[in-house]
Amino acid sequence: MDLVIGISGASGVIYGVRLLEVLKQFEDVKTHVILSEYAYKNLAIETDYTVEQVEALADVWYDNHDLAASVSSGSFPIDGVIILPCSMKTLSSVANGYSDCLMVRVCDVALKEQRKLVMCPRETPLSAIHLENMLKLSRLGVSMIPPMPAFYNHPKDLDDMIHHHIMKVLDQLGLSYEGGKRWKK
Ligand SMILES: Cc1cc2nc3c(=O)[nH]c(=O)nc-3n(C[C@H](O)[C@H](O)[C@H](O)COP(=O)(O)O)c2cc1C
Repeated sequence: MDLVIGISGASGVIYGVRLLEVLKQFEDVKTHVILSEYAYKNLAIETDYTVEQVEALADVWYDNHDLAASVSSGSFPIDGVIILPCSMKTLSSVANGYSDCLMVRVCDVALKEQRKLVMCPRETPLSAIHLENMLKLSRLGVSMIPPMPAFYNHPKDLDDMIHHHIMKVLDQLGLSYEGGKRWKK
């Protein structure tokens, strides 16, 4: 399975990094990874990870400015796209078909080719514009999965919360990940 993973400049780039770490455990998954300019900035602001460490987790690494990259074409076979975290800017660009960078173009392609697209928008509070963009994309079949921690699984720390979110994201792609503690009565 070929998946594009986009990490945008919303708070919570660590979610994207953890997702790449988890996907390393799936032998059949090949990751195509794109970071936006502000994802690079937030990686430095919010985490201790270097760009090189994140790049090492990717099977294929792309420059977000490279609109001629293989994954920018609908003819390149991709099984799904995950944007985690997704900024309001990237959300808006995708909702309005404004493909001025590879990450948005890949989402645009997923929409036109009717492929699985999972977006994890992160902002609070949400304006009516943000909500309208989410609704528009949700109606087009996009899985809208904001990083919202659950408490029914008794998370012990941030990593527990992050892995629970990753489990929910991967469920959408039919990938079973049990590192997120499902609800059990
Ligand atoms: C530390 C930091 C945290 C940010 N958090 C958010 C956020 O949670 N949600 C959001 O929509 N934008 C957030 N932004 C703003 C985006 O990075 C900015 O809108 C950027 O243009 C997004 O571009 P991109 O979607 O290409 O990454 C944050 C910026 C910084 C520097």
